[in-house]
Amino acid sequence: MIKVLFVCLGNICRSPMADAVFQQMVNDAGLSSKISVDSAGTGSWHIGESAHRGTLNVLRKNNIPYNGRARQFRSQDMADFDYVLAMDYSNLEDMKMMARGTTGAETRLFLSYAFERGLVDMDEVPDPYYTGRFDDTYDLVTAGCRALLDYIRAKHNL
Ligand code: 4NP
Repeated sequence: MIKVLFVCLGNICRSPMADAVFQQMVNDAGLSSKISVDSAGTGSWHIGESAHRGTLNVLRKNNIPYNGRARQFRSQDMADFDYVLAMDYSNLEDMKMMARGTTGAETRLFLSYAFERGLVDMDEVPDPYYTGRFDDTYDLVTAGCRALLDYIRAKHNL
């Protein structure tokens, strides 16, 4: 099983959206027995909560189910997952610090796969918790997930 973890700050806006969108793409590609998907936050404020209303609304509008609950990123995730993907540079730094030397996963910015192919013009996902722009987040997340799935399929011959 190829294991993918999306990481943001609160695990209620961006990473749950990526979790849901990527899971849907994996299902549609018939790869759910090969690729598993999860998300986490570096912060602890929202542990156990469902996703933000803005994220749930945009997912519902696009017929994508999600019923995950927020959890905090832990160092063991670096060993348990193959891809640990941060929504912005701050998440990436926090995550590396929290990993306390535990390695194993490919640890990168989530949008880097799409950015390197020129599919998006930024390498961070701006936080809709502050911007309120959940539709823009959805567009970026969708482009990022498409590029990530292409990358994983090519790398693992799926
Ligand atoms: P997220 O957004 O990292 O995309 O889930 C945030 C959610 C909550 C907070 C910050 C960012 N917060 O400070 O509570």
